[in-house]
Amino acid sequence: MKIKVPATSANLGPGFDSIGLAVTCYLVLDVLGESSAWFIEHDLPGIPHDETNLLIQTALAVCPDLQPHRLRMRSEIPLARGLGSSSSVIVAGIELANQLADLGLSDDEKLEMATQIEGHPDNVAPAIFGNLVVASYLNQSLDKIVVDFPEAALVAYVPAYELKTSDSRQVLPDNLAFKEAVLGSSVANMVVAGLLTGDLTKAGRAMSQDRFHEPYRQALVPEFAAIRSLGQDHGAYATYLSGAGPTVMTMLPVGQKSAFLEAIKSQFPDQVLDLAVDCKGVCVED
Ligand code: HSE
Repeated sequence: MKIKVPATSANLGPGFDSIGLAVTCYLVLDVLGESSAWFIEHDLPGIPHDETNLLIQTALAVCPDLQPHRLRMRSEIPLARGLGSSSSVIVAGIELANQLADLGLSDDEKLEMATQIEGHPDNVAPAIFGNLVVASYLNQSLDKIVVDFPEAALVAYVPAYELKTSDSRQVLPDNLAFKEAVLGSSVANMVVAGLLTGDLTKAGRAMSQDRFHEPYRQALVPEFAAIRSLGQDHGAYATYLSGAGPTVMTMLPVGQKSAFLEAIKSQFPDQVLDLAVDCKGVCVED
């Protein structure tokens, strides 16, 4: 059995902790068979191989008496770069328990569990449902709407350095002035209305006017302003900080993608991923 979970790009500008998009870059977990003790093969330095691994811990939190198995995890999702690597592990762990114990969990039940572990739904929701998910988690009450994403190319610039979500959240203010919050909310509303009506020009303009987190985090990602400017030169709809960063996502018309890819690769030395929207979310294959 194989469990496949997509990477995710959260926030899309002002959709902070609420909006996320599944993208075509994957964690794949092979379930190799029963064993006397848990073991997970992978090639990630510093990540445990035994039952203290986050994926196995998550599976055991869902179902404590699972029979130990031997597993193999391969992940294309860069670690600590703002593409939902830890969410993909949590979702894979929940699905592993679901399959091994035949729990028959619904996607909504998986989302409840994953959000409780992660603290916010914007990465785990699209990792489960695929596509774009708008969600809110307020007073332990979770709601979500899955939305088909309009056609667009997605180019992720993944810097060589890591940025931990906890560090990237530390630069955010404790409070936002009322006027600033109203402006932030207005552009967030425009993002959602633009996406729902397929108006990527207006959605993208609003994505680039976030007031909730990007103004505070930009200093942590020195390449951000130059990539946004390069995107504007190539007719991009939007450039935003993917999740907590440091990945910078550029959303652009499909016809503009090749020229933008060539330009960004020639000007920036680090990894560039040519992505599309994943429409399936977590899936299980034999
Ligand atoms: N919404 C989260 C953040 C995503 O920006 O901090 C990363 O977990």
